[in-house]
Amino acid sequence: MNLRRRVGSFAIVVATLAVAVAATARVAPAQQRFEWPEKAKNLKVLPKNTPKEKLSATMIGFTRALGVRCPFCHVGQEGQPLTTYDFVSDQKPTKDVARRMVKMVANINRDLSKMKFPEPKRVTVACVTCHRGRPRPLTLAEELASVYESAGIDSTVARYNTLRDRFYSSGSYDFSERSLNEFGMSLLAEGHSPDAIRILSINVEQNPKSSFAYSNLGNACAAAGQKDLAIQNYEKALELDPRNREAEQKLKELRGVAK
Ligand code: HEC
Ligand code: HEC
Repeated sequence: MNLRRRVGSFAIVVATLAVAVAATARVAPAQQRFEWPEKAKNLKVLPKNTPKEKLSATMIGFTRALGVRCPFCHVGQEGQPLTTYDFVSDQKPTKDVARRMVKMVANINRDLSKMKFPEPKRVTVACVTCHRGRPRPLTLAEELASVYESAGIDSTVARYNTLRDRFYSSGSYDFSERSLNEFGMSLLAEGHSPDAIRILSINVEQNPKSSFAYSNLGNACAAAGQKDLAIQNYEKALELDPRNREAEQKLKELRGVAK
């Protein structure tokens, strides 16, 4: 079932590529149709005699695993026919990185094969194991932190929304409450409480049933001196989960102070 689905989507990618190539041929009738080479000229990590079926499956596999297209690693213009690309060239640094990654993955699998596991059927590490459809395999919290560092909170929120629209159902990122909790609490720990409030507010919007998300927002409000809001959020946290000890404790403290 799983395998069939995977083979199915692979066929779709091949078909899509074929359609793209056909469409290209239609607009530019003078252009030749792109053919995978019978014998590739410049293979340094794949076997020199890799048949074209295997080469095309590998390349399409790379694009899917990293969520990129051919020009990410090859010299050529997006939107131009593949016949105009120079696939032999080593000009793009990403092509070199990809070669090193192929070797790294082979080493990982070799190391793994020497380890003992309870399951006889082994897991094979592949590009997708780490990349999950993105060129840089960062967690959501790491990616947001890096945008925050370079461009501030508005850009970070914008990036979150873009990533959510694009990747929500893909499994490329963890869109559960954990990621925004982690990132929001790290902002709080660094003393950026207004920005933490903004992130943790998005988290309660997205996860309105999470007691933990509300008590974290309560923590950020308390740190920013917004007592009433903090109380409201701790109350909500307790309403959702009466066993939330942190919310109970903080609520007692705040009410004590408020009196
Ligand atoms: C993540 C990087 C990456 C992406 C994306 C990628 N390739 Fe490659 N490609 C490589 C690497 C690396 C090699 C060389 C492999 C080696 O040295 O053994 C290669 C080699 C090739 C070759 C053989 C060239 C020769 O004659 O030496 C062709 C053809 C090719 N790629 C086509 C494609 C096409 C078409 C796409 C898009 C569907 C694509 N590649 C996407 C990294 C990539
Ligand atoms: C064990 C995890 C892991 C596996 C497996 C893996 N990669 Fe990577 N790859 C990384 C990490 C981590 C980075 C980002 C390094 C950085 O930017 O600090 C990366 C970066 C890259 C980049 C550069 C991206 C950029 O934006 O510059 C390319 C290209 C790439 N990987 C290709 C591949 C290919 C092709 C495979 C499969 C043959 C593969 N990787 C398998 C971890 C992995």
